[in-house]
Amino acid sequence: MSASDTSRTDEIGEVYDQMAELIEVLGGNIHVGFWLGDDDPTPFLEAINRTTDVVGEKLGLRPGQTLLDVGCGAGVPAIRLGQRTDAVITGITNSTWQVTEATRRVKAAGLKAQVRIEFGDAAALPYPDAAFDAVLAFQSLQHVEDSAVWIREMVRVVRPGGRVVLTEFTEEEPLTEEELEIARAGGMERPRPADEVVAVARDSGLEIDEVVSCGDNIRRSYPEYFKRLERLRPHLVTALGEDKVDQQRDAMGRLLPIYRDKIGYLIITGHRPD
Ligand SMILES: C[S@@+](CC[C@H](N)C(=O)[O-])C[C@H]1O[C@@H](n2cnc3c(N)ncnc32)[C@H](O)[C@@H]1O
Repeated sequence: MSASDTSRTDEIGEVYDQMAELIEVLGGNIHVGFWLGDDDPTPFLEAINRTTDVVGEKLGLRPGQTLLDVGCGAGVPAIRLGQRTDAVITGITNSTWQVTEATRRVKAAGLKAQVRIEFGDAAALPYPDAAFDAVLAFQSLQHVEDSAVWIREMVRVVRPGGRVVLTEFTEEEPLTEEELEIARAGGMERPRPADEVVAVARDSGLEIDEVVSCGDNIRRSYPEYFKRLERLRPHLVTALGEDKVDQQRDAMGRLLPIYRDKIGYLIITGHRPD
């Protein structure tokens, strides 16, 4: 990995370190919600957990099987997947704040023996070949310019035949240079069209089993984010200070309309060939 790749990894880790309690807006998750249609009344946090369930189901985990969660955030998806499947889960993140916070949440959930959180880089996973039954990258690939680097690592550490599930933002409408700048300032790399995303996964060694396109199921997350941010504002201001909360609101105010209008969402399920 080049020095510039390393510094971008550190930079993105710091973006998440800075975010800290702001993830409470998403109930401690850092991903979108999933609704079944325009008249689906599911509240935001429940819709966010539903995304974990929709994505998690694709892993086909059985009790005792091992899962690596690449870009595990504050561990909330790992905790939910652990509770629902009895799988043994390792989460890895490049944010030191998230390691501490996720470990605290795992302990509070009573899952210390089942879920472990580690600091590391998805581009150079610190695990031997074929170490896991399944591997997940749940809304983390948007942080790497060349997603092939991460996917090759994911395919390397899953056992032959083991499942790999990826979620990826996709470009539905071309982004302007200014929009790309805004995305990059938020730690997001240029989103690719859906067919390119799938081709990269395939060329990185993944045998593709299913591709689900669900941009319209997740789009409501963007307006819901601002509603909940305003509701939590007093708590967040106490925890982090007014400047930080306003900075986040302004940054999201620039970023999320782009995602609402131009970006789709894929769930890709594949496996490592035998
Ligand atoms: C949008 S968050 C998703 C978190 C979690 N999967 C969830 O759904 O709540 C992206 C995650 O990817 C992690 N990440 C970004 N770049 C990384 C890297 N190079 N190595 C490991 N983790 C990384 C971030 O720290 C963060 O945990």
